[in-house]
Amino acid sequence: MTILLDAETIRDRVAALAGEIEADYPPDEGIHLVGVLKGGFVFMADLVRAMSARVTLDFIAVSSYQQGTQSSGEVRLMKDVDERLEGRHVIIVEDIVDTGLTLRYLQDVLRARAPRSLRTACLLSKPSRRLVDVSVEYIGFTIEDHFVVGYGLDYAEQYRNLPHIGILDS
Ligand code: IMP
Ligand code: MG
Repeated sequence: MTILLDAETIRDRVAALAGEIEADYPPDEGIHLVGVLKGGFVFMADLVRAMSARVTLDFIAVSSYQQGTQSSGEVRLMKDVDERLEGRHVIIVEDIVDTGLTLRYLQDVLRARAPRSLRTACLLSKPSRRLVDVSVEYIGFTIEDHFVVGYGLDYAEQYRNLPHIGILDS
């Protein structure tokens, strides 16, 4: 395992991202974060604790039919959000945007619920892997085409608990 982003680097960037997000919304209007399970849970937990605005949160789970490190491109909704999104400022909180297929699916599903606004925050982006054009307003780090684990991200459900993000040596 090669460390790509250590815990302190991630913490500083997440705090900066929280500030960027809060500066973009009127202080008297709440922000509703929708975390994407499972990978987004650590980023979500750190992001909300770095925010002082009026924040509510919910979770959604999708399955990308992942086999090993390859995504099949088929996305399925496994768990929907609990709360209504209509009229709210919604931000999708996801671990990584790779091909973009998962986020395109999620943005389509959530936009149909008529939120007041819909944006996306991703801790990581691998632009060289993009297959579809999705807009991601907040990106923590842009990385090269490596398969990474830790800080919520897994390989075969392992490594989600690592405090850093590492490249899995094949
Ligand atoms: P996309 O639909 O191809 O953009 O892939 C999104 C999902 O694939 C992410 O939410 C992750 O769960 C998973 N994924 C993509 N790249 C990686 C990686 O490098 N490490 C771990 N999971 C990844
Ligand atoms: Mg994921």
